[in-house]
Amino acid sequence: MILLDGAKVAHERNLMLKEMIEKDILKYKRAPSLSIILVGDNPASQSYVKGKGKACDLVGITHKLYNLKEDIKESELSTLIEELNHDDNVDGILLQLPISKHLNESKLIDLISKDKDADGFHVVNQGYLYQKKPTICPATPKGIMTLLKSYDINVSGMDAVVIGRSNIVGFPIARLLMDAGATITVCHRQTKDLAFHTRTADLLIVSAGRAELVTQDMVKPGAIVVDVGVNRVDGKLVGDVFFQGVSQVASYLSPVPKGVGPMTINALMENTYELYLKHVQN
Ligand SMILES: NC(=O)c1ccc[n+]([C@@H]2O[C@H](COP(=O)([O-])OP(=O)(O)OC[C@H]3O[C@@H](n4cnc5c(N)ncnc54)[C@H](OP(=O)(O)O)[C@@H]3O)[C@@H](O)[C@H]2O)c1
Repeated sequence: MILLDGAKVAHERNLMLKEMIEKDILKYKRAPSLSIILVGDNPASQSYVKGKGKACDLVGITHKLYNLKEDIKESELSTLIEELNHDDNVDGILLQLPISKHLNESKLIDLISKDKDADGFHVVNQGYLYQKKPTICPATPKGIMTLLKSYDINVSGMDAVVIGRSNIVGFPIARLLMDAGATITVCHRQTKDLAFHTRTADLLIVSAGRAELVTQDMVKPGAIVVDVGVNRVDGKLVGDVFFQGVSQVASYLSPVPKGVGPMTINALMENTYELYLKHVQN
């Protein structure tokens, strides 16, 4: 089994990005910048935000964290987003999810300017994605596609099964894989027989958020398995795939942590850089 080493690939890509940004700072007289909005003090979100800040520091993206209180009014958050939308020195804005239940997540995401949508979640950018037009791609699906390409995995003609149909992972990765020539099955909680589908997969993408949902008997020998899930069990991070078992049958497998997570952050850095270039070149 070959490990899909997201940490290594992401680090290499971040170093290349750092070089490009260094040159562009000389040319355009300013660094790219990312504003990160964190609502509340969820430890997992704090740790993700910290990781994103560290990656910004590495590649040379300036970043500012707005850590807002859990019970912030929606109108206050909207005002902040509008201010950042109008700030010419801000290239990317990221609203760390999940946010408090009293806030309208989808409305706030769409309030972020589509031209500063570093996560690629804005309804217009997602619309472009589904119409195969150039756009800012959601970070996790983009990171997964980059990871597969880095291992010279060509998905064209493969039977790909995706577990999960969320707007941020399952649905867009299904679309990207389909565009890359794979034949797609998308499974979710109403799927009658999950294992029946997963056993057909040449490529299996697991993004359910259920610790060790996929076991060895559910995977076709030689399949490529990408584990997106991040679950905290007894203080330890585990994926949606039972690693020890599935590593016995898969040809490639991404670990948790150090698989899709760093690739997502790298994609976020690349998205922010892309937005920056559009801003400074206009
Ligand atoms: N590594 C990273 O960078 C990264 C980035 C984003 C997310 N994640 C992780 O990826 C996981 C998924 O995230 P998400 O935001 O997509 O979660 P989500 O919005 O909760 O979606 C989960 C999806 O999985 C499906 N599902 C849940 N349990 C299932 C089961 N037993 N069998 C079949 N399908 C099942 C759900 O089906 P229904 O639609 O029927 O409810 C839903 O479509 C989470 O663990 C999250 O932490 C990791």
